Amino acid sequence: MQNSLFANVQELPRDPILGLTEAFVADKNPARVNLGVGVYQDENGRVPLLACVKQAEEALLAKAAPHSYAPIDGLPAFNSTVAKMVFADSADLAHVATVQALGGTGALKLGAELLRVASPGAKVWISDPSWENHRALFAAAGFTVETYPYYGADGELDFAGLIATLSAIPAGDVVLLHACCHNPTGLDLTQDQWRRIARIVRERGLTPFLDTAYMGFAEGLDADAFSVRLFAADGGPLFVSFSFSKSLSLYGERVGALSVVTANAAERARVLSQIKRIARITYSSPASHGAAAAALVLADPDLRKQWDHELGAMRVRIKLMRALLAEKLAERLPGRDFSYITRQNGMFSYSRLTAPQAIALREKYSVYALDSGRICVAALNNANIDQVAECVAKVMTEI
Ligand code: LMR
Repeated sequence: MQNSLFANVQELPRDPILGLTEAFVADKNPARVNLGVGVYQDENGRVPLLACVKQAEEALLAKAAPHSYAPIDGLPAFNSTVAKMVFADSADLAHVATVQALGGTGALKLGAELLRVASPGAKVWISDPSWENHRALFAAAGFTVETYPYYGADGELDFAGLIATLSAIPAGDVVLLHACCHNPTGLDLTQDQWRRIARIVRERGLTPFLDTAYMGFAEGLDADAFSVRLFAADGGPLFVSFSFSKSLSLYGERVGALSVVTANAAERARVLSQIKRIARITYSSPASHGAAAAALVLADPDLRKQWDHELGAMRVRIKLMRALLAEKLAERLPGRDFSYITRQNGMFSYSRLTAPQAIALREKYSVYALDSGRICVAALNNANIDQVAECVAKVMTEI
């Protein structure tokens, strides 16, 4: 028998986030709860189909348009409505290249490959900790990935550490920042802190890359766009990755965008041509359906209003679940302060579960949290929150 081509191919560990969903799906315990992946679920434990999306999809279906190719850079109506929504009047959109991408991850990938063209010797700095895929994605694109302090030993934001490191990063390096709803900690920067960061980034000639996957989940669409608009307002350069997975509950449709703020229209044209090449050799052109629905929601005043309302309801429900979880944990573990859960933003709480506790939580009780202790509070509801609080309190006491 011939040696197998794959004899030396190693099996990799499962993905730290999506691999957990695989384990959850295989778990036979009827009481299993998935607090691993960042997916919003409604009060009934279901991923919602937003009414605004449903109406947009019905309108698309009624048109019975043929399934032709989208342009390499995506649907023009999508790109222009997204750019207007994200930047409002903070940037001259004639200087901004916005392209449809395969979700937020796809946008990050396009941005990473563009950076390889524009700034191949740069290092990429991510927060410690950051979304697991950030390091993997930029490393796979050929970058050395470094970290700046973010989560302090006391469980609060280490702003002094962040500023000290930022102030020493060499010119030309890339700094990846979470525009809002920091993943995984839920700890966000104040507007004053953002201003200070923006000043240092510009003074040192660093390249800011803002990951904006959770816009609308902290305080609202405009309030959450503060950091992006702050960086855009001085004319760039700026990279912004954007996702509708969460805010329009369009996870499986892979609807996202990359915007690159450049100095002028000629630069924009050159940058756009490079991004189009990267898209073309990677997937040729993006899928149309989800982006067409998103563009309709953004462009139609009634659907847009409906979306604001539905996004607001998701935001409020998450905040309610945070307050309830903090309360239920405090009841079970008197003397311990869980108020940090309510001070965090977005879908995640850095729960302060240790890795052995998170592992026990899933192995003993089928409650799935990341090993880092990150839990998705957007997957809590009135039917599972007591069970979750009970099991978390148990592992926090026992281990
Ligand atoms: C998460 O952090 O759970 C989400 O962004 C989903 C993903 O792709 O990891």
